[in-house]
Order: sequence, then structure tokens, then C-alpha cells
Amino acid sequence: MANTVSPSLLQNRLTYQVIPISIRELLFLSTAPCDIYGIKDGIFYRALRRGVFTNKNLLRELIAKGQIYLFVHREDRSLIIETVQKNLLQVTRSLSLGNPLEKGKAQMNLLTINMGYLYQNPTDDTILKLQHQCAKNLAYFLLNKIDLLVPLQREYIKQKHHFVLAQPLIASVFLIGLMKYSQLYSDQEIENLFITSYFKDIGMSSIPTEKYDQEELSDKEKEILSAHATNSVQILKGRLPLSPNHLSIIEHHHTFSLLTNKLQLNLREKQKEGEIIAGFETMLVTVMDVISAMITGRPFRKPTKIFEALDLIKILIADQYPQEFRLIVSYFKNFFIDR
Ligand SMILES: [Fe+2]
Repeated sequence: MANTVSPSLLQNRLTYQVIPISIRELLFLSTAPCDIYGIKDGIFYRALRRGVFTNKNLLRELIAKGQIYLFVHREDRSLIIETVQKNLLQVTRSLSLGNPLEKGKAQMNLLTINMGYLYQNPTDDTILKLQHQCAKNLAYFLLNKIDLLVPLQREYIKQKHHFVLAQPLIASVFLIGLMKYSQLYSDQEIENLFITSYFKDIGMSSIPTEKYDQEELSDKEKEILSAHATNSVQILKGRLPLSPNHLSIIEHHHTFSLLTNKLQLNLREKQKEGEIIAGFETMLVTVMDVISAMITGRPFRKPTKIFEALDLIKILIADQYPQEFRLIVSYFKNFFIDR
């Protein structure tokens, strides 16, 4: 018998041996760490050969066509993850060298990809430690390059990472900008609140990220989602250097986003009973989260205009925090003015 494999048999074998990766995992790598497959008319083809330079134009073309999933052999999956993480570490360590806008952009994107690995394995200490270290370095970098915040944030939003992974970073970068703008906080305080805000939703990892694309989650999933703040604390406690105060902010970060009258009433009751610590920093974290969620789109809804988002924030906080509300409006007006 001839020692050849028929194309259909090869396809069958590939079907069982390959697993999907996101095209984003390759965008910031210089060379392909293993063979990468695409799929066309239901047939796998090798889109990139191991060791070749990743062709950014090809990747962008694939993204434009909506082909955001590529495939690798199952045993090569860890190679992609290791390469992304090595790259993230390298970019993080050299953030102050070279073009700061390009460096910041690459770092924010790689950080988000690693956030995806963390959400898949929230109990993995190595990934958590790496994510924490790199997020801290990003905060330090941004605090010292505050002029880059607006262009970096805009570039980052354009990258359209999955909203579950992008949202914490968008909200936390706004938080840095707002706190710096207020001139009321030391850089150390801003960095600590940035980390708190960035990791506050890790409890959402109990539901696979793709599930959030559906408009309606099942009752069970809704229940898990509504408990995500408490789950985040469970996941992070004793593993990240967060003070009890910062853990409490995570625990209560949805205090102000309870929007229906019934829930508002419930909230007031709870506040009276002293159950909810609605501190000022909790409010800041939550408000940045709500605004970020509203002004970025979801698969099931279009983004809201910033002024509409600020109208909602007015309802939520203007009575209790009039000065801070004015500060927030002034900051976002500043951010959204075309430069
Ligand atoms: Fe949350």
C-alpha cells in the first residue's frame, strides 16, 4: 500500500486534532510559534507555517472577514500561550523604551489576551501573578504618561477585544485618568484602586466568556452573574495583595448600578441597615464601570452616547455626590472633545 494519506483522511484527522484559538493571540507575535490553520469552505488549510513572520495584513484581512478563529494542533496550544506570555513580560519590562504609544498599545492588548487565559484558569497562581505584575507596571507607565491615556484608550477600544475581557481595562484606565485629573490622590492610591478595579470582575469567569454574547442568560447563569462580586473576592482573597478595604470595594462594586426602582428601594433599606458600605472609592470604581459598559457596544446592543451615560450617572450619584458628579462630567467632556 502506498504511504500516502488521502486529503479527506487528513481533513478528518485535523478535525479531531485541532482546537480553536483567537486570531488576536497572534496579532502581537512576531513569528508563528507553530503551524496555524484556517478554515475555508469547511476545509482546513495551513494559514501560517511555524517560524514564519506573522503577516499582520493577512491577519487583519481575516479579522475584517469575521474569521476571528484560527486553529492549532491540540498539543501546540500551550506553545501559543507561552509565547504570548513571554511577549507580555518582555513588553512590560521594556515599556519605557521605544515608542511609548506602540508599547502601551501592545502591552494593553497582550494583557487582555492573558486576562482571557486567567478567566479560563482563575485558580492558576502563575497566570494571576503575571497578570497582576503586568497590570501594576501598566498603571505606573500610564501615571507617568498621562497624555497618552486618551490615544491609548481610543486605540484599545478600536481593537474590539471580547467585552468581558476589555471592560475591566477600559473602566480602570478611565479611573486612572479621573483620579489623576482630580488631583486628590497619590500615585500609590491610584495604582491600588486601578488594580482593585481591574480584577473586580474575575468572578465572572464562572461562566464561559462566549456565553455573555447571548442577550439572555439562563436563570442559573444570571444567578452566578449576580454573585460575581462575591466570587471575585473569594478568588482573589489571600492571593493578591489587596487590603480589606479594597476587597470590600470589589464586594460592593455593583452597589450603584442597581437601576430599577425596586432595587433602589432595596438598596436604601440595606444602606439604612448598614449592610452596604457605599464608600466614595466604591462609587468611583462603579461609575467608571457603568460608563465604560454603556459607551462600548455589545453583540446585542449598540454603544450609548457619553451624554446619555452621564445622564444615568446623574440619577445615580448627583444627589449624594454633587461635586464629584461635576468632576466626572468635566473629565469626560475633556476626554471626548476631538483633539
Ligand atoms: Fe462587575
